[in-house]
Order: sequence, then C-alpha cells, then structure tokens
Amino acid sequence: MRTPLVAGNWKMNKTSTETKIFMEQFVKLLKGQEKSEILICPPYTSLYIVNDFKHNTKIKLGAQDVHWEEEGAFTGKISCNMLIDSGCEYVIIGHSEQRTYFNETDETVNKKLKKALEKNLIPIVCVGETLEQRDANQHKEVVKNQIIQGFKDITDIKSTVIAYEPVWAIGTGRNATPEQAQEMQSFIREIIQQLYGKEIAEQIRILYGGSLKPENAKEIFSQPDIDGGLVGGASLKPESFYQIILAAE
Ligand code: PGA
Repeated sequence: MRTPLVAGNWKMNKTSTETKIFMEQFVKLLKGQEKSEILICPPYTSLYIVNDFKHNTKIKLGAQDVHWEEEGAFTGKISCNMLIDSGCEYVIIGHSEQRTYFNETDETVNKKLKKALEKNLIPIVCVGETLEQRDANQHKEVVKNQIIQGFKDITDIKSTVIAYEPVWAIGTGRNATPEQAQEMQSFIREIIQQLYGKEIAEQIRILYGGSLKPENAKEIFSQPDIDGGLVGGASLKPESFYQIILAAE
C-alpha cells in the first residue's frame, strides 16, 4: 500500500511572519490521525519556521529546489546539506516554473536528482507537458522523455516521488479531468516499470499537481494511480490545504 502524500508548494509566497501565522492556524487543524503524509515546501527563508512548528506533528518539511554541488562559489544556490541541516526530508526537482523561467533542463534535473538521492533527501521529480504539446498529442512522448533523461544512469531510485503536473493546469484554475490525470499517471508507472521493474513501480508514489482544490481533490485522488497531490495556490490557506489532505484519505 502506498501512503498518500499531500505536498504544499508555496512557491515565492509568504514571509517568515506570514509563515508563522499560517503554521499557528494549521497545526490547530491537525488531529494527529491523518493517514496521509503532510509536506510543506515553503521558501528557503521560512524553512526554519516550519521546522520549529513541525515537532510532534505529522508535518514534514521540503524545499522547492536544490543545487547539485556540495558547496562553493554558486551565488544564490542552496545545497542538499543545507536543506538537511534545516530539517528538510524532501526536495522538489524540475518544477515546470524552474524549467520555463530558470533554464532547468532534463540534464540539470538529472544532476540534482543524483545528488539528492546520494544525500537521502526524498526527491519529488516534476514532469508534465505544455498545452501545445498536449494539443499536438505529444504529451506521452514528452513525459516519457523527461523521465528517461531525468533518471539517466540512476539505478536505485529509493523512495523517489514523481509529480505529474500538466503545465496548462498549473495556476490556471483549469485542472486535468480525473481520467486525463489517471491516464498519464498509469503511463508514468508503466515507464518506471520498464526502467526499474514491477516492484519499484508499484511502490513509487505518483502525485498529481495542477489547480488542486478542496472541490476537485477527492475525485482526482480516487484514481488508482494517483497517490496524493502537489498543491500550489490552495496550500496557502490552512483550511483549504487541510481539506485537500483529508480528501486523500
Ligand atoms: P497550483 O500549483 O496548485 O497553484 O496549480 C501546483 C504546482 O505548481 O505545484
């Protein structure tokens, strides 16, 4: 059985002060019996705040990106060791906004993924097609290539999580239908099976991301190959994030 994972990707939202206010409200909502794993990926400047609040709760901490080098002259970058030392267990790699705006390529995804695995950080590798690619019926080919290139030369993917996030559904209010999402998620599981065998393919968690909301989460999460979600906008409010967590159970 795969434990559902509901991850909040805050993107470039919330100051440390705002994070503190969110966390004060959010921990009050938790009952401690939630069956899903709960993950918050705030901006780097708020990692320590979420870390302070997560003790004695089921909340886990993740970052939104990482650099593949250990340390050195890489202005503006953050290393795996820095994240681990800040309390992170997870890291998002290859988010479409990184790919679109900050030159993330399958090659840099591959380097980051290798380093995260070496350091025992759990990677959440994001894949997904653009609207043009979907309209041209290339979505499967695009996602397959992202996985093959991103996972190149990696023999042990450990507890890696994959997030299928169609770019046309991110922050647009337009979510994939449960059927569209399921089709892609089971396709991704097939690719993992081809690369790593059936046992790994059955263990690995594949999240859906793109305009998840309390209103659509339950139907999407009810699909057999969807093991939770990567939630952007709706993770910024304690109540809506909590409703999505409950929808995954
Ligand atoms: P969204 O973002 O829920 O705001 O569409 C999802 C994501 O980018 O991870």
